[in-house]
Amino acid sequence: MEKEADPGEEQSTYDPKIIAFCCNWCSYAGADLAGTTRLQYPTNVRIIRVMCSGRVDPAFVLKAFALGADGVIVAGCHPSDCHYINGNEKTAMRGTFLTEFLEEAGLEPQRFKVEWIAGSEGRKFADVVKRMVDELQVLGPISEEGEQ
Ligand code: FES
Repeated sequence: MEKEADPGEEQSTYDPKIIAFCCNWCSYAGADLAGTTRLQYPTNVRIIRVMCSGRVDPAFVLKAFALGADGVIVAGCHPSDCHYINGNEKTAMRGTFLTEFLEEAGLEPQRFKVEWIAGSEGRKFADVVKRMVDELQVLGPISEEGEQ
């Protein structure tokens, strides 16, 4: 006898994919610290190291979603700590634009985050990833039409 699909079952097995663009000098070091100090965080995240968060063209974020990401994080140095003077200021401006653009396109705002994570903040990196996985599991996969 075939088992009937339980609508709640799909939700519990949903394993969201997250792309995190991390700047080399702070956020990547924070992610590395989370790993070297063996902090537990979900394995759903794939990290792409960039020299500065300001290097992340909004097109990279859109491409990540187009290629199947369920959530995208752009992580950089805290304000005034950018190693390229003001790259993270550009990231903040682009982040505001991208959040509005993605919402217009029908994606929930929880699917995209800009975060400032220092090299000493391994715990923060782990918490950001955990929080996003929790939020995405509530939202579920992106619908085909990109509608909420
Ligand atoms: Fe980290 Fe610019 S070097 S945000």
